[in-house]
Amino acid sequence: MIYRYLVTQPDLNAHGTLHGGMLMKWVDEACGMEARILSGHVCATRNIKEVDFRATAKLGDIIEITVRHLETRRTSMTFSATVRKVGAGIIANFERLVFVAVNENHEAVVINNENT
Ligand SMILES: CC(C)(COP(=O)(O)OP(=O)(O)OC[C@H]1O[C@@H](n2cnc3c(N)ncnc32)[C@H](O)[C@@H]1OP(=O)(O)O)[C@@H](O)C(=O)NCCC(=O)NCCS
Repeated sequence: MIYRYLVTQPDLNAHGTLHGGMLMKWVDEACGMEARILSGHVCATRNIKEVDFRATAKLGDIIEITVRHLETRRTSMTFSATVRKVGAGIIANFERLVFVAVNENHEAVVINNENT
């Protein structure tokens, strides 16, 4: 699924370009929404592997985050994400993001019984 965000003033760093931490927040949020839609549970970020920041974005740019679901295991789901600037190229790649489905006590819940 594709998620979009608009770069506004509070998203910038001291150099006037998109803050990397804000980009990570958006990708985390997009994958978290995807995980929640797929599992039907609130999901917590468990692991993020290899983030590659390839280009910057600036005020007014529209950021497009493409989330790909790679696999669902017992309590977890794995995604990858590609970040593009609309009308331009890729600005970042997230190789792997792992989310764990949790209950109201913040305990992992089983979402896939296939491997138990
Ligand atoms: C999510 C949480 C409740 C799960 O706790 P837990 O019951 O001890 O379970 P674990 O973390 O050991 O494992 C849960 C799943 O994550 C997977 N996992 C654990 N470490 C992993 C890693 N480094 N890479 C990939 N997957 C991993 C496990 O394989 C397991 O998946 P599976 O059940 O589908 O096979 C707990 O880890 C937690 O609260 N983490 C912090 C979450 C958070 O606050 N995120 C925001 C960070 S700011």
